[in-house]
Amino acid sequence: MNKKKIKVGVAGGGAIAQASHIPGYAANPNFELTAIADPCAESLAQVRAKWPFKKEYSDYREMIETEKPDVVSVCTPNKFHADIAIFALEHGADVVLEKPIALSMKDGEAIKAAAERNGKRIFVCFSHRFNDMIAAAEKALKADKIGEPYMFRVRFAHGGPWPGWAKTDWFYSPELAGGGALLDMAVHAFDLVRHLVGEVTAVSAKAATLRKDIALDDNIVALLEVGKRCMGYVDAGWTSRGGFSGVEIMGDNGFLLVDYAKGKVSATYGVTSPDGSITMNEDIILEGGSRPHWGNQMAEFTRKLADGSAPYPNIDDGLEALRITLACYESSREGKRIAIKR
Ligand SMILES: NC(=O)c1ccc[n+]([C@@H]2O[C@H](COP(=O)([O-])OP(=O)(O)OC[C@H]3O[C@@H](n4cnc5c(N)ncnc54)[C@H](O)[C@@H]3O)[C@@H](O)[C@H]2O)c1
Repeated sequence: MNKKKIKVGVAGGGAIAQASHIPGYAANPNFELTAIADPCAESLAQVRAKWPFKKEYSDYREMIETEKPDVVSVCTPNKFHADIAIFALEHGADVVLEKPIALSMKDGEAIKAAAERNGKRIFVCFSHRFNDMIAAAEKALKADKIGEPYMFRVRFAHGGPWPGWAKTDWFYSPELAGGGALLDMAVHAFDLVRHLVGEVTAVSAKAATLRKDIALDDNIVALLEVGKRCMGYVDAGWTSRGGFSGVEIMGDNGFLLVDYAKGKVSATYGVTSPDGSITMNEDIILEGGSRPHWGNQMAEFTRKLADGSAPYPNIDDGLEALRITLACYESSREGKRIAIKR
C-alpha cells in the first residue's frame, strides 16, 4: 500500500532553507517537496537547480491556501516569522519555525495561541541543541561529571551574516531583522544556557555597535543569573575573526569545555595548591565533533513530524529565549539589571 506523503511548504528559500530545511525534508522519504514561496527570483532559481519542488509561488499565503501543506517551514527574515507561522497554523499546518520566533513577546504568544487553537505543533530551530558536542555535554552534566554548575560562559561569534551568507543585507535592517547580534546569535546561546544550566532569572547586558556601520548591535555581552547559586555570561558578535567559540561550564567538582573550533568536549578536574602547583586531570568526552548541526535537527524534526511526537524544542523554548533577549535589550537601553518575569 502506498503511504500518503507529508506535504511540505517552505516560506523563504534563502540560505537556511537551502542549508538545513530543504535537504532535511528531501532526505526523508515520508515527505514530498510540495511548494516553495519566495518573492526573490534568484532564491527560487537556486532552489530549483537542486530540489524538485512541485510548485513555486511568490506569496506564501497563496502557497498555503492553494497547496494546503501539512507542514510549513518559516525561513524568512525575522519580521515575517509571526505572520507566516500564524497563517500556516490557521490553515492546518504544523510549523518548523526559525529563530528568533518573533520580534515581540506579544507576537510570540500569538503564535502559541494559534497553535493551541488549531491543535498544531511548532518545532523551533534552536539548532545548537542538535550539535553532537552539545549533546555530549548534556549527557556529561546529567551524569554529574562536574557537580552543580555555578558559573558559565558561552561565546558565539562570526564575521556577520552578510555578505557571504544571507541573500541580501536584511540582517542589518532594524525593520526586517528587529535586532542585531543579540537577537541573531545570543538567542541561540540563551537557549543553550536554559537547556544545559537552568532558567535565567535576571540579566544585565550591553549591546553595542563597535565596528560595523549599521544601525543595530554588532557585539553584545550579557550577564545572566540562574537563581541564586549560578551565574555566567554570554558574548556574541558579528565582527569576529576567530577566537574561542563554544561553551564553558564550571561546576563544584570540575569544568566542562565545549570547544566548537576544536570539535572537542572535555571535563577537567583540577586542584591548585597553596604553593602554586596545579594538578589537572582531563577527561576527553568527545573528539572530532562537528558543526553544523542542521542535519541532526532536521532528521529529528522530520521523524517527529511523521510519527506525531511532541515538538522539541517547542514554542515555549522559543518564547523563553526571546524573553531573555528582549530583557537584555531593555537592560542595555536602561543601563540596569532586569529581573525576568514569567
Ligand atoms: N537556526 C540557525 O542556525 C539559523 C542560521 C541562519 C539563519 N537562521 C534564520 O533563518 C531565517 C532566514 O535567514 P537566512 O539566513 O536564510 O536569510 P536569507 O536572506 O538567505 O533568506 C531569506 C529568504 O526569505 C525570502 N523572503 C523575504 N521575505 C519573504 C516573504 N514575505 N515570504 C517568503 N519569502 C521571503 C528572501 O527572498 C530570501 O530568499 C532568519 O530568521 C534567520 O535568523 C537560522
